[in-house]
Amino acid sequence: MRKIAFTANNNKCIKKIMIYESNNGTYLFGYDTIFDCNCLWDNWYENVEQAEKCCYDDYNIKPNDWIYISEPHDFCNLDYIMPVRIKGRDKRQPEFDQWEILVNDNWTAFSPPYEDKRELSTLTDNERLFLTGLTNEFEKAKKQDNQKAKKILAALNLEFSEHPTLTIRKETPSDYAEVYDMVKNSFATTDYSDGTEQDYLNEIRNKDTFIPELSLVAVLEDKIVGQIVLYKMQIADEVQLVLSPLSVHPDYFGQGIGASLIEEGCRRALALGYKAVFLCGSPAYYERFGFVPTYEHEIYHKKNKTAKWCMVKELEEGYLSGVQGFIDIE
Ligand SMILES: CC(C)(COP(=O)(O)OP(=O)(O)OC[C@H]1O[C@@H](n2cnc3c(N)ncnc32)[C@H](O)[C@@H]1OP(=O)(O)O)[C@@H](O)C(=O)NCCC(=O)NCCS
Repeated sequence: MRKIAFTANNNKCIKKIMIYESNNGTYLFGYDTIFDCNCLWDNWYENVEQAEKCCYDDYNIKPNDWIYISEPHDFCNLDYIMPVRIKGRDKRQPEFDQWEILVNDNWTAFSPPYEDKRELSTLTDNERLFLTGLTNEFEKAKKQDNQKAKKILAALNLEFSEHPTLTIRKETPSDYAEVYDMVKNSFATTDYSDGTEQDYLNEIRNKDTFIPELSLVAVLEDKIVGQIVLYKMQIADEVQLVLSPLSVHPDYFGQGIGASLIEEGCRRALALGYKAVFLCGSPAYYERFGFVPTYEHEIYHKKNKTAKWCMVKELEEGYLSGVQGFIDIE
């Protein structure tokens, strides 16, 4: 078992601690940097509990502060997180100034991170993960252990995003078939669907009100997990936008993908010069994004003047103060 904890909030010079439980007892390694490197000192204990007690007494490290990491590889330095070794150690001919790292099952020349003197705050997210030795641990945790992934990012002062690799891009014709199935499956989970939303989307794409730049898909590891369309419509005396449909793959509900699509759709719409987005939808969902019933702006749904579900969001504040009239959307 190996685990690390960062000790950033103490006034001591030790910034990171590692416990390594081996067959010969428990090692405690102390580091004066959070970068992945040789430790500053090491202590030996009979068992993990004794090492943990020392970490609690001296550095206030609590049980939940620990981040479990993989076991060291053969011939690798025990105090490194990454699989790093002195070249030739496996053949008992160590070349002490030469380092190697295991990447995709190949040993590759390596320059230890402690030679990098840059401040943490000047590093990109990926550089922080790499130089602290946590890239692989983070990538694995993202798939298997969300709490661990969050702990790593918190320790490195990085923000946690449920889907760091979520991309939102313009939809292309080659996406249509995948989007069709995704929309169908998504709306099938609702009570109010009539089962035709995917065909309605096909119709929208064939009208001259369609704006290809505002038909977006959310993509996660090459899979389409959401879509949004904003198309043109005459509203009162103005041509503005209607948002419809919006859907997320059911396996990905509740992970912020719908929110990301709305925010990105509105951002791109504003960049194209549009000033307001209308929709028919659940106020409980859309009000969090700044949508309000259109009647608050003296714009009334043709069939129901007080429909709370007929909503609008100003992209440019105050724009709707000069717009009044009726709207007919479903
Ligand atoms: C509605 C939908 C797009 C939301 O996408 P999502 O990625 O799951 O939503 P987000 O993760 O961005 O937002 C989740 C939040 O919205 C809430 N929410 C989701 N759907 C909601 C709904 N229909 N009514 C009210 N709140 C809703 C969740 O409870 C969650 O709230 P919380 O953050 O307070 O826990 C998605 O559920 C979906 O595709 N549903 C089927 C198709 C559909 O109904 N489209 C909308 C037509 S108007």
